[in-house]
Amino acid sequence: MPQVIFLPHEEICPEGASIEADPGISICDLALKNGIEIEHACEKSCACTTCHVYVREGFDSLEEPTEDEEDMLDKAWGLEPDSRLSCQALVADTDLVVELPKYTINQVSENH
Ligand code: FES
Repeated sequence: MPQVIFLPHEEICPEGASIEADPGISICDLALKNGIEIEHACEKSCACTTCHVYVREGFDSLEEPTEDEEDMLDKAWGLEPDSRLSCQALVADTDLVVELPKYTINQVSENH
């Protein structure tokens, strides 16, 4: 089974995590199941950007993002070439390294 490594994030998973994943699960669901509370303000329907993550390794193993995902990603805080919406990106058969952005758009508008 592919292994998904979540890099440490100060608030959400200070220690980081390494999790075995069933192929086909979204990165967001995998994280939530394992106590990594990625925000998912639109309940994973590709209508927000709070579940934005960077896929630092294994990016090319993921299915291409849909146009809807691309459109939403354009609005995400800190967009990078490795950016995906974690509720839309499904684990394939390759190990992944996932980094959580420092902020989500919600936090930016609330606190910054
Ligand atoms: S939870 Fe809203 S787009 Fe992923």
